[in-house]
Amino acid sequence: MKPRRQQLILDLISLDYHETVMAAAGHQAEQVLQETITKYDGKFICVVEGGIPTKDNGIYCKIGGKTVMSLLVEMAMDAAAVVAIGSCASWGGIPSSDPNPTGATSAHEVLTSKGVKTPVVNIPGCPPNPYNFLSTVLYYVTFKKLPELDDQARPKFAYGRIIHENCERRPHFDAGRFAVHFGDEGHRKGYCLFKIGCKGPETFNNCPTLLFNDIGSGAWPVGTGHPCFGCSEKGVGFTVPLHSPARPKYITPPSFFTDVFPGKEGVGAGTKALAAGVAGVAIGAAGAAMLSGLGKKDEDNKDKGE
Ligand code: SF4
Ligand code: F3S
Repeated sequence: MKPRRQQLILDLISLDYHETVMAAAGHQAEQVLQETITKYDGKFICVVEGGIPTKDNGIYCKIGGKTVMSLLVEMAMDAAAVVAIGSCASWGGIPSSDPNPTGATSAHEVLTSKGVKTPVVNIPGCPPNPYNFLSTVLYYVTFKKLPELDDQARPKFAYGRIIHENCERRPHFDAGRFAVHFGDEGHRKGYCLFKIGCKGPETFNNCPTLLFNDIGSGAWPVGTGHPCFGCSEKGVGFTVPLHSPARPKYITPPSFFTDVFPGKEGVGAGTKALAAGVAGVAIGAAGAAMLSGLGKKDEDNKDKGE
């Protein structure tokens, strides 16, 4: 059963600091931050949203008079783990796009460059699916360890497969039925969006199976008729032009297509693969949040004098 939002925040985790979801403001809020770090030394999760400006010593983003870059290092040093939520925190996202005037980069890059060894989990997406974030945090709360991660530090339960594998339009792709222009007959009939730039064949995410906003089938970009633009994939979203064809990871579409069901307009139900859903409740996340009372600190950081 999914926990309700208030149950989640008040009973399952302790949300001690969040720039917007907290009663305190200004100096009082920053005091809470320092008290939380001291109180839960090594037993809190630091959640980061947004790319980290690094140019000119990080002056392009400050909270409470400190640069976000220095705050991240300070908090991560004492955290059990860092969760980077969204593409910006995970790999730089929009602010890191060329020409990247603020030198924005990911939380992971900043921490690595400063020699901080606290484990980082990336939950990329624009937006990231809140269930993927929540499942990661609750996994840690339950098992006192992080879920299995891929080579980009993404939880495998969420980013283990490319979108194209589970897309409900995949039978149209296999049968060679495509939308060629927005609003054309193929688009109106719900055909595959590959030819109008869908990046599903090169994007790892569980959007087609987890969906968004708890409103049922079709509640994801491709389900609404918009090509996936690879928002969660480094080197694809905000990098490759929207109209460019995808560079499929595992399959190369043939230059000609044959009908798998000759003479039929559509394909039968049941072709859509289903992946395991993850229970939880959606919560918004903005700025940095600290979820305390969890796990143990990575001893590596205790040796660092920063
Ligand atoms: Fe779905 Fe896009 Fe793959 Fe077509 S190219 S099947 S729309 S993910
Ligand atoms: Fe993003 Fe593509 Fe999913 S644009 S939200 S990864 S369908």
